[in-house]
Amino acid sequence: MPETVEVMAWPEQEQERPVLRARSVSRRYRLGRRRDGVLDAVKDVSIDLYRGKVLAVVGESGSGKSTLAKLLAGRESPTSGLIELEGSAIKVRNQRDFRQYKRVVQMIFQDPFASLNPVHTIGYHLERPVKIHQGLSGEELKDQLAFLMDQVRLTPGSRYLSKYPHELSGGQRQRVSIARALAARPSVLLADEPVSMLDVSIRLEILALLDDLRTRLGLAVLYITHDIASARYLGDDIVVMYAGQVVERGAAEEVTQRPSHPYTQLLISSSPDPDSMITTALARPESSMHQGTMNPSTTGCPFVVRCPFADDQCRSEYPPSTAVGLGHWVSCWHIEEARHD
Ligand SMILES: Nc1ncnc2c1ncn2[C@@H]1O[C@H](COP(=O)(O)OP(=O)(O)O)[C@@H](O)[C@H]1O
Ligand SMILES: [Mg+2]
Repeated sequence: MPETVEVMAWPEQEQERPVLRARSVSRRYRLGRRRDGVLDAVKDVSIDLYRGKVLAVVGESGSGKSTLAKLLAGRESPTSGLIELEGSAIKVRNQRDFRQYKRVVQMIFQDPFASLNPVHTIGYHLERPVKIHQGLSGEELKDQLAFLMDQVRLTPGSRYLSKYPHELSGGQRQRVSIARALAARPSVLLADEPVSMLDVSIRLEILALLDDLRTRLGLAVLYITHDIASARYLGDDIVVMYAGQVVERGAAEEVTQRPSHPYTQLLISSSPDPDSMITTALARPESSMHQGTMNPSTTGCPFVVRCPFADDQCRSEYPPSTAVGLGHWVSCWHIEEARHD
């Protein structure tokens, strides 16, 4: 009789569990004094962030990207829906909750200069979070600072720690912001357009650094951008947002090779060459992209105002999310026409 082997169930779900997830999250803002004046900056958005993976969120200015990041960062509360960290719904009620949450979920911003205090040295900026989050002092603190500088490739660290923000280049300052985020030893890094204010020549370096960090540290990264070329470069998956809603999502390769929503196609067509788009498109400012009015108040598809396929159904009913490939989802009533256009 063959020996029976008790096979333990592989904890697949445990492995696959997202670190951070948004489940049907919406954020509504009141506009002015009119009772009915509301704007859904983010509407019914669900996303999952996994260890060691980058999810890129792409969309024009005003599409709700930063609001989504703030919701995930605990800086804003959803009007409806849930944010879950390691499987538990989060509730940030006060500063103490927020501090604890920030230990795990860190954010970096577009303008590294604005987030650094000009009167303090780089060392000061990094010491604080290391003391607060890791409770280190003396030699251990020093070692940790050197380690952080090393992680972001500012070496030798000692040369930079005594400098002031204005003595560094934009790229170096963004590296400092990243180091400061890492000082908390987070599991999640939310990067809101981290390269869009930097010189073109150094954008790729910073993206390469983020790519490297997620691999080395197993960080789950949300990369926000208005530039689909850089989303393709850094993202494993891409989520395309328009007027607060997700219009297309899927593997980065799939979404950029076979864009199926007219809006994604527009983003790609305004990126020059799909294969070498990273170098060329990284140079393009957002303003060179076709900007139109978003119409978030419609009950139908918000893209109707710009869509070549818009009809009555589009105007009255939001299109359901439809699979067009493995893990590739699109919200459009005219997927077929859009694809063959
Ligand atoms: N605190 C707020 N109060 C009112 N409206 C807001 C607020 N924050 C953002 N919005 C609006 O929500 C929409 C999405 O903004 P945002 O998330 O910043 O988009 P993105 O980052 O994609 O440019 C915009 O129309 C913006 O004006
Ligand atoms: Mg923004």
